[in-house]
Amino acid sequence: MPLAAAVLVFACGGDDATPSTDEVGEAAETGADAETETGTESETDTEPEPDLPTEPERGSLFSPAEAVDLDPAPDVVHVELTAAPHSFEIAGEMVDGWAYNGQVPGPTIRMRRGDALVVDFHNDLEDPTTVHWHGLHVPFEMDGVTWQGAPVEPGGDFVYTFTLDQAGTYWYHPHVDTERQADLGLYGVLIVEDPDEPVADRELVVVFDSWGEHDADSEAGGHHGLDGADLTWTTNGLIDPLFEANAGESIRLRAVNVANAGYVDLTWTTGGEPGVRQIASDQGLLPELVEAPSVVLAPSDRADFEWLVGPDFAGLEVLNQPYSLLGAPSQGEPLRLFEVELAEGGTGEPAPGPLAWPFDGLEPTPDPGAGVTDVLYAFHGDPHTGDWTINGELFPDITIESLSLGAWSVVELRNVSQAAHPFHLHGHAFEVLSVDGEPPPWRIVEDTFDVPPYATARLGLLPDNPGDWMAHCHILPHVEGGMMTVLRVE
Ligand code: C2O
Ligand code: CU
Repeated sequence: MPLAAAVLVFACGGDDATPSTDEVGEAAETGADAETETGTESETDTEPEPDLPTEPERGSLFSPAEAVDLDPAPDVVHVELTAAPHSFEIAGEMVDGWAYNGQVPGPTIRMRRGDALVVDFHNDLEDPTTVHWHGLHVPFEMDGVTWQGAPVEPGGDFVYTFTLDQAGTYWYHPHVDTERQADLGLYGVLIVEDPDEPVADRELVVVFDSWGEHDADSEAGGHHGLDGADLTWTTNGLIDPLFEANAGESIRLRAVNVANAGYVDLTWTTGGEPGVRQIASDQGLLPELVEAPSVVLAPSDRADFEWLVGPDFAGLEVLNQPYSLLGAPSQGEPLRLFEVELAEGGTGEPAPGPLAWPFDGLEPTPDPGAGVTDVLYAFHGDPHTGDWTINGELFPDITIESLSLGAWSVVELRNVSQAAHPFHLHGHAFEVLSVDGEPPPWRIVEDTFDVPPYATARLGLLPDNPGDWMAHCHILPHVEGGMMTVLRVE
């Protein structure tokens, strides 16, 4: 498919990166019409200007619309979520996909640490589905998996409810036929604010998804490509949209990679200012501010950044570098995911000072060594057969390993395959103790960690949430190929 630039025009204005639900609803509804009108105009234009190249209008980048909280109580967030078929446009082509509440990405659910969340979920699809809360430490019955439980049948309802004692950028997606259901557009962001963290002037929530092998004839649409640079990427559903920053403002960027298999290797070109500084990853704030030249987001990874915009801001491109899963040098040109420009007619305000993030400054926990290993998972696979195994087993024919509730434990991941595997564990956070015997550069606490080819990663965790927790690679074709197991905490 040739990559036409997106011509969808999001007509929302204003200074806030988060338009109201109405604005986005309107833009989403009129999007298809705007497209039609543009087409009609160019067909009926009696005085074409053949010498001028036609510049497709570029979409503006806004955060996905947020879910409306129906409960006035300050510590309860009550939202409605409906999964239903939905047609939307990707790179100039209509996709017969699925969506939560008629938007892709789905509505962002925003709450505060300590809040109770109540989600009235309704399944308007013709397929069974669930909602899984990725990275959140929810009770097992609320985890949205079908291990020991039934999915929500077509026409059915389920109330997901839990209280969260954690903060950060998370997301939700189905956990039934996940490769296909997520691919069709079922995903959304869930933000848990920490009352102890400073509030940036603006937040920008960006969701990266790849549509590189989208094939209108195949229902699942593809997503089998792995090297991010080869794929068509959307940022909040738009190809290479534009975001306007104002001099003098601080911006918190929350980024999520929801692609089935594509990696995002984020890098930035900038006129020196603002620097891009990472403040958080999967499970909330990092122990310290990290200024790295690039950040890799494996499928399901998140990262938060702070931008401090000054008057000399020369613009910034957020790029996806070519990325090789096989550890080989990667090829090709970087792909621009979105661009940031200084808003015209700005105030010339100086860049704000850094925000006072309450970093905990903790050092990595020392790896106690190979003698202390509670569970060992070996990843094998064969791209030719499509079988991907953990300890030689294909889900659901697996052996359940167990950890004791409350006893700090070590899980060793041995990747004996030639592909990287982003390992994800439900219901818990874990710390990376070592990779090939080396301690990490700073304390890394995650719910998904990308294990490079032929590497051994050792994770430390406190199993504090009883249940049968799915443990799997988050490359969804690998899950389909069997790479999932269950870690029991009892
Ligand atoms: Cu994001 Cu088991 O998944
Ligand atoms: Cu994998």
